[in-house]
This record gives sequence, structure tokens and C-alpha cells, in this order.
Amino acid sequence: MPIATHIAQALCAALEYAPERAEEVARMLTAPPGLAMGDFAFPCFALAKALRAPPPKIAADLAARLQPDALVAKAVAQGPYVNFFLQRPEAARRVLGAVLTDPQGPGRRDLGGGQVVVLDFSAPNIAKPFHFGHLRSTNLGADLARIFAFLGYRVVRRNYIGDWGTQFGFVIYAWQKWGEIALLRERAIDYLVELYVRAYRESETDPGVREQARLLFLRLEQGDPEITSLWQQFRELSLAGFMKTYQRLGISFDSYAGEAAVNPLVEATIERFLRAGVAEQSQGALVVQVSAVIGREIAPLMLRKSDGASTYAARDCAEALDRWQRYGFAANIYVVSRQEDHFAQVFAALTRLAEAEGWEHRWPARCENVSFGYVRGMSTRKGEAVWLEAVLDEARDRARRIREEKSAANPRAFPALANGELDAVSEAVGQAALLYFDVSARRLSDVTFDWDTVLQFEGNTGPYLQYSHARMCGIFRRAAAQGLAAPDATAPEMPASLADEEWSLLLVLRGFGPAVERAATLREPHEVARYLHELASAYNVFYNNCTVIDPADPLTTRARLALVAACRAVLATGLGLLGIQPLETM
Ligand code: ARG
Repeated sequence: MPIATHIAQALCAALEYAPERAEEVARMLTAPPGLAMGDFAFPCFALAKALRAPPPKIAADLAARLQPDALVAKAVAQGPYVNFFLQRPEAARRVLGAVLTDPQGPGRRDLGGGQVVVLDFSAPNIAKPFHFGHLRSTNLGADLARIFAFLGYRVVRRNYIGDWGTQFGFVIYAWQKWGEIALLRERAIDYLVELYVRAYRESETDPGVREQARLLFLRLEQGDPEITSLWQQFRELSLAGFMKTYQRLGISFDSYAGEAAVNPLVEATIERFLRAGVAEQSQGALVVQVSAVIGREIAPLMLRKSDGASTYAARDCAEALDRWQRYGFAANIYVVSRQEDHFAQVFAALTRLAEAEGWEHRWPARCENVSFGYVRGMSTRKGEAVWLEAVLDEARDRARRIREEKSAANPRAFPALANGELDAVSEAVGQAALLYFDVSARRLSDVTFDWDTVLQFEGNTGPYLQYSHARMCGIFRRAAAQGLAAPDATAPEMPASLADEEWSLLLVLRGFGPAVERAATLREPHEVARYLHELASAYNVFYNNCTVIDPADPLTTRARLALVAACRAVLATGLGLLGIQPLETM
């Protein structure tokens, strides 16, 4: 039983509440500001009205009624709070036991019961750069996918590739004018982007180019075989390039069906909007008014342009309807930044459709846009266009240089690594630096990227967490070298007293499950990152102040090895949720 529940039950008895109210009381418990004030605090403000007494009086009465037991050493009134001091060894035994014996590993829970969460993330555009903003979407989306799966949801990972739209008119225009097959074979997507940019530039001085591009895209929409086959080639080449990056990051999707794949559903969807009476003609285009639903003045959603071309918005409407029909999702989450208005329009148009069709189920309310802030300061030595592969390469190379420097300066702490191992470590550390950077702040805050900061082995960085993990593993290597058995996981024996550093660390350990749940509820992987940083920091305080392996004190050694084992398990699990490799040596 969780310690909070145990305390809540005692409080229920003292308050003469029915035992069923224990969960409600447990939720009222808070953490006192410091260890000297106990381990749990029960604020009495909320009871003042019902009990018709001032909170400090209630606290004093309650404290007098609470008896010490195996887990609670004492309960003391302090102002309007009752502070609980735990029996540290017993509490420690329970916390460590819970972490180490859970067959599923720490923190995993079945909250989802198999309900479906659709995550739409990454979604780069063919013939446009797979850039740093897409890394953020890729990363946040992959984190959320792992977090929801960890909590028992069935996750559908959707990579809704941007493979349709007027930009193809430009690419095809440029291809017909300047394209060289050899260059396309050689440089694939880089070349397509160059072509796109070249045509786009030309259109800025020559408006006729835009018109030609528009017509080429219309021919593509009408299924012109020659244009379609070009488009297909471009799509395949680009996708192959994206796949390399995904493989490198260890990310896969359940579907890579992009915007083009939903095309066959678009006409029927537009029909549906018309039949339901929610779509209207406006200056030759077909639109859905959404201001009233959204509650502010906003442009209508455009289903069809005046030239008959389909729109990004119409495709998203068709795609969302299809997802609902396919999965009956609990949530359909779009990890996309700076398209707030677009998604507000899509969700509102779908709400109007659902209403007009008389649906009892308001499923559009389950669609959400999880947006994120802007990354400043990213550039690579290759120049301004920030290609994801280039960023990953640079991170790896820099990590390698740092590791080599450390090894030269301090060969004892950083023994030279064999070449293959150095490659693997560099790649893992480089990725950790980038991936952790994305979640080191709340997703909506704008962040400034700096190569030197993100790669540091200290501070709020991915490499710091990996390094903490590697040091934990180092302790077990030393213990094994000294012939010490692995800690007894089922009921770790505890010495009669625990140091403050051990105790603080234990209190942090308890917070992992709640942090993962917060991350899911808030759609905020940063909650996991922040938690892991707190854990590693508490661990390092412990590590610097407490001797773990002490041949003169086998009981303390065993207890502390159990503590390190629990920290390592939680850290490794948490890093895994963030897609960061927990390294054993670094
Ligand atoms: N391809 C789009 C872009 O790069 C993102 C697509 C997001 N997903 C969606 N269903 N609209 O801006």
C-alpha cells in the first residue's frame, strides 16, 4: 500500500471519516518545505468550515489523536498543518521494495486500459527541408507515444507526411525546367529542396511562375499520368531519406500514409459537409464558418479553393473523420507548432458537422493540437539550412571530441574506449544532448540552443543523466569485483537509521510514477525530464556524501546498494521514455 494511503487511513480514523474517503484525504497530503518538518503534511484549512474551528486548533486535536505505528514515527501539529515523520527504515524498505520487485519495472501502470491514443507527429514535407522544428515534433511525439504506451494506452503513431499541396507545382515546374536525373539520384531530397527554392525565388519576380505551378498541381490532382509518376518518384526518394533519420533515432511509425493517401476520402467528406448544411460558397470557394464555435473572429475553414484545388484543411478533416471511424480514439493528438488557427478551424468544423448530423458523440472534443515553442540559435557548420542529419552528425562528432578530451585530461575517470565503443558512445551522447534539450523546458516555452551547453556532462543536460547512470553501473562493477552479492530486492534490510541524503533520495524515488502520469495528462514530456534531473541531482548529493561500499559495515552496504539499484532502475526507465540510451560506461 502506498505510504500516503496508509497515512490517509490513519487520518480518516482520527477524523471519524468513512474509510472510503482515504483516497480523497490522500490527495490532500502535501510535502513539507524541508526534511526537518517531516515527510508529509496535512493542511487543515479545508476542514475549518465543517468543524467550525480555526485550522491550528484542528491540527493540534488531530495530532493528539494520531498514534505512532510501524510506518509513522510521530505526527506533530505545526500551525495549520499536521506534519508526519516516517519511520525511515520501514518506509525505505517499502519504497525500495516497490521499485525493485515490480515485475513490470518501476512506474508502469495500466491507466489506459487499451484505449487508443492517436499521435500525429513528425510529418515532414517532401521537397521541403526536414528541419529542426520537425525534430522537436518528432521528439515530443515519440516521447508522448512511449509515455502513453507505458501507461497502458494503445498508441497509434501516425506520420502524416506532407506529400501533397501546391508546393509540388513548384517542384515539378523546376524539374521540368532545370531537373537533372543524375543529381536527383545523387542528392535526392536535398536536390528537390533546391529545385523548390529556385522555382519559388523565380516566382517572386515573375508571377507567371506561380500560375504555372498552380496549373501543374491541378494536373497532379486530376491524375495526369506523367506528373503523377514524377510525384511518386519524388515521394519515394524523400521517404527513403526520412527513414534513415528515423532508424538512426530508433523511431518507427504505424503508418506513413501522408496527405495524398487521404485524397480519395476528400470528395466524400466535402459532400458530407454540404449535405449537413455546414459548408457554404464564398467567392467561388467552399468554406465552413467557425468563429461562433471557437468564440473569436477567425477566418472560415476552406474546404475547396475557387480553382477547385483541395486544401490542407479539407484533407485534415477527412483524415480525422477516418481516424475516428477506425479507432474510436480517446485522444487524437497533433504535435505541431504554429498551426494553432488551422487546428482550431479543423476541430470547429468537425464539431459543426457532428452537431448537424445529430451525433450524440462529440468526438471532435477529443482532438487536440499539442503545440510547442520556437528553437533559437541552431546552426551547423554547414550553414543556415538546418538539416536534421547534419545536426545529428555534428552532435555525434562534438560528443566524440569531448570524450577524447576528457580521456586525455582524466584517464582514470574516462579510460580510453575502443574505437567501436567510442563510436557508439558518441552517437548515444550526441543524441541524448539533442533529445534532452527539447524536453529540458516546457514545450510551449521558446528555447535557445547552444552546442556547448547541451553537451555538458554536468547541469540540466542529457549527457549528465547518462553519466549519472554510468556511475551507478560503475558501483555495481566495483561491488561485483569485491565479491558482493546483488542486493536482496524483495525485502531490503535497512540499518536502524538513514542519513538525510539517503532519505531525500528515497523521497524523490517515490515521485517517478506521478511524474510520468503528469507528463501524460499535460502532454508534457518535460515532466519526466525534470523529474530525472531531480533524481540525478539527489543521487549525486548522496553519492558525494555517503560511502556505498564499506567492507566494515555490510548491512549499510547492502541497503545502499539496494538504493543505488532502485535509482538505476528508475533512471534507466525514465531515460527510455525520452528515447535516450542509458549508458553503462561513458
Ligand atoms: N506537414 C506539416 C508541416 O510540416 C505538418 C502536418 C501535421 N499533421 C497534420 N495532420 N496536419 O507543417
